[in-house]
Amino acid sequence: MSHDNFVNRHIGPRKNEIAEMLEAVGVSSIEELIEQTIPSNIRFKKPLKLQEGLSERKYYRKILSLAAKNKVFNTYIGMGYYDTITPAVILRNVLENPVWYTSYTPYQAEISQGRLEALLNFQTMVCELTGMEIANASLLDEATAAAEAMVMMMNLRSRKMVKSRVNVVLVDEKMWPQTHDVLRTRAVPLGIELKIQPKEEFDFTEEVFGVLIQYPNSDGEVVDYSGLVEKAHDREIKVAVAADLLSLAILIPPGEWGADIVFGSSQRFGVPMGYGGPHAAFFTAKEEFKRSMPGRIIGVTKDVHGNRALRMALQTREQHIKREKATSNICTAQALLATMAGFFGVYQGPEGIKMIAERVHDIAAFLALEIEKLGYKQLNLNFFDTIRFALPKHVKHEDIEWLSHELEMNFRYFENGEVGISIDETTNREDISWILEVFAKAANKRWQVIHEYPKGFKINKRFARKSAFMTQEVFNKYRSETEMLRYIKKLEHKDISLTHSMISLGSCTMKLNAATEMLPLSWIEFNGIHPFVPKNQARGYHEMMEELRRDLSTITGMADVSLMPNSGAAGEYAGLMVIHAYHKSRGEGNRNIVLIPSSAHGTNPASAVMAGLKVVVVACDEKGNIDLEDVRKKAEEHKDSLSALMVTYPSTHGVFESSIVEMCEVIHQFGGQVYMDGANMNAQVGLTSPKNIGADVCHLNLHKTFAIPHGGGGPGVGPIAVAEHLVEFLPSHPIMNNGHIGINAVAAAPWGSASVLTITYGYIKMMGAQGLTEATEIAILNANYIAKALEKNFGILYTGENGRIAHEMILECRHFRATSGITEEDIAKRLMDYGFHAPTLSFPVHGTLMIEPTESESKGELDRFIDALNSIFDEIKAIEIGDSDKEDNVLKNAPHTAEVVSADKWEHAYSRQKAAYPLEWIKENKFWVPVGRVDNAWGDRHLICTCGSPEEYELMSQD
Ligand SMILES: Cc1ncc(COP(=O)(O)O)c(C=O)c1O
Repeated sequence: MSHDNFVNRHIGPRKNEIAEMLEAVGVSSIEELIEQTIPSNIRFKKPLKLQEGLSERKYYRKILSLAAKNKVFNTYIGMGYYDTITPAVILRNVLENPVWYTSYTPYQAEISQGRLEALLNFQTMVCELTGMEIANASLLDEATAAAEAMVMMMNLRSRKMVKSRVNVVLVDEKMWPQTHDVLRTRAVPLGIELKIQPKEEFDFTEEVFGVLIQYPNSDGEVVDYSGLVEKAHDREIKVAVAADLLSLAILIPPGEWGADIVFGSSQRFGVPMGYGGPHAAFFTAKEEFKRSMPGRIIGVTKDVHGNRALRMALQTREQHIKREKATSNICTAQALLATMAGFFGVYQGPEGIKMIAERVHDIAAFLALEIEKLGYKQLNLNFFDTIRFALPKHVKHEDIEWLSHELEMNFRYFENGEVGISIDETTNREDISWILEVFAKAANKRWQVIHEYPKGFKINKRFARKSAFMTQEVFNKYRSETEMLRYIKKLEHKDISLTHSMISLGSCTMKLNAATEMLPLSWIEFNGIHPFVPKNQARGYHEMMEELRRDLSTITGMADVSLMPNSGAAGEYAGLMVIHAYHKSRGEGNRNIVLIPSSAHGTNPASAVMAGLKVVVVACDEKGNIDLEDVRKKAEEHKDSLSALMVTYPSTHGVFESSIVEMCEVIHQFGGQVYMDGANMNAQVGLTSPKNIGADVCHLNLHKTFAIPHGGGGPGVGPIAVAEHLVEFLPSHPIMNNGHIGINAVAAAPWGSASVLTITYGYIKMMGAQGLTEATEIAILNANYIAKALEKNFGILYTGENGRIAHEMILECRHFRATSGITEEDIAKRLMDYGFHAPTLSFPVHGTLMIEPTESESKGELDRFIDALNSIFDEIKAIEIGDSDKEDNVLKNAPHTAEVVSADKWEHAYSRQKAAYPLEWIKENKFWVPVGRVDNAWGDRHLICTCGSPEEYELMSQD
């Protein structure tokens, strides 16, 4: 084996350790363990047909050669994607920093204060720029944010409107085509009638509940919508506005002219285009609509000591609690990208952002004048960054296209032959000259080189923003790189990520996100490309994506893959829509029942409802397995309307159920399709596949199984893989031919979050068939090793027929409540004192912890984790037998901050040493939790979702 063999770096345990672990588990070989774990009828008979794994160096060369096939032109296409300068201090210390990119969604608030603050900054920034009152911490992209706005407006209908089945949304035809397309996809199953038309034709009848407009609109025109908003509000119709965040630094924000919802993309705030993503959409609304907001909201609260702390607010709206009744279906969002955009705001401050906006406008205005002098007609009356030209008779747009490509530039070409130019932060003096050269040459005219930046072009007074924004201290403090660096580091030190210790979150697969996989993300050849450039400028991307689609098809056994969905939940939705399109094509569009086991993740029922389906819950037996008889009964009962079964495999209970093949057969027998939730693919790759179990569609969480990091709550990539009969229904794209011709788009970009696909590509190329299979085997071994070590003290809730678990386990904790008053939450918080992130809390079974170690953790780390939990068990025992107080004990008071432990006063019945260093090895690598236990309810009672507001200071001084 070569010294730079990647498999050996990705997988944690060494050979000798594997032997010890097998012995501890009670088997003589990996093969024996796998035989006892995975039912033989679904096991592969042959190895995966993928290439051999490459060494890190070989892969580096390969990806470098693909990068060289991408051409980075200056792109002025606009349409929601703009070149931007990622400040190097943010690139290096956030995007390239594993503390930021390997952390998980901040469910455990006490060890997530850094990213919570970064996201609160993001929320504050977008509220300030849009002039709105409440924001969430990101959505998947602008087009899906538009769909969320539409659904939110529907949910806000008055009782009278609901009773009269008011169902029309008026959509301005001048929104991005990709936004229209996603709106179409999302409207149909919910029975919403979309009227896409010129806004001048809007008819505010009694059937209308909402209006969607864009500011500036898709031509680049800045329109005064105040009259429209007034008219809509007179009829109780809500107005949602897609806005360009940068423009709002100099344009009157929609919040000031009465918008109810404002959303858009924050991409041009320092987040590279990346051939379509990932980027963070923002979403804001009036405070009165807070309970109907989609997505995660970060809010201010107090910890148990009365200190300021942050946490996710109003979680009872969300699908993990509300399931099919959830407000929206956002689990993984775009946290890392929102964090970057928020830091961009912190670093630039209001004056920097205004300066960028003014410069963009100055250049656009200057070009408008100069190009007009060449005989073209500029068509926008008022604009921010985008100008649109009608060509003189003797100029063809093909000439402009050809000349621009010769000079390595891309413009936007409208269907009627007009040409658009969108200026961005990076456009410089030379670029202006090159743009002029193209237009001059095409018109056979002369032009002059530009020696100075154009300046002083004013926005029409009618539209010019007068209000101040981003006045909070955080946006006015960090201007030098030193200061910014220290601020980022200050936040970073408050969070636990994979750089500290294993994150054993069940169902989340927190494996290694290897450095070699991450490197290409910083290369301009991958991140500097606009998603709508001619495909021949992105040959490297397409070669990579073709191979990736093939490899993922091989791994799943399916016929083809759509890379478009931006999260697991988005994949579920896309998959169910594909199934529906299939039924419809066979004249069975009435099939609208989806069977979902009671143990399913909350996104499953929420996705089903979004897809217009009715959820019928199927039971699990006392062993945690899906009750096959109940499936049969319900499938038969609904045989005429059965659309699908949604099943997670291996189950969310961490078990390979042997009845899976029969279950899929039953569904097929009654005309349904099987959707497999691929969150647990880490236990399948190379050993079995969705196709082998009998599924028709599955999504993959590339941000779990295939090494894309979680970024503190996103990005995610949730491609769907489908069997042959469903390929023709995979989602298409209105602008780019993405190889599929089926349902309308489910995301804004044709290939979803294309830039991070390089991570999965690297993972598969370096692991190869054998490495991927080994990873699965070791993931199963690691899990069974932990299960063996903890079963005596805690108990493992569910195991398979041979007493084995798959790649994760549910740790029983419920009995401690009766014996000692200790809850699963106390255990989770106490683990923080030991330096660990808690396992998944109370999912899928309330009162338990679900542990998934992944293959990347070494035996040493697994042993430390086991030690920690067994030590916590002893602490519980001490309470049970009366050696520790029932209230004043290390668990109830956990986590312990440095401030508490080092305070002059110590009034607890246990020692400081026991509080902070319960085991010897903790001293070597102590993580000091920045806040004590967070009070969630207080924060929800006093909702504050922006930073530095006077209300915050007032509230913090109250009880
Ligand atoms: C079983 C299961 N299904 C679906 C999802 C949703 O995936 P995503 O967060 O990418 O939307 C999760 C996420 O944790 C999950 O565990």
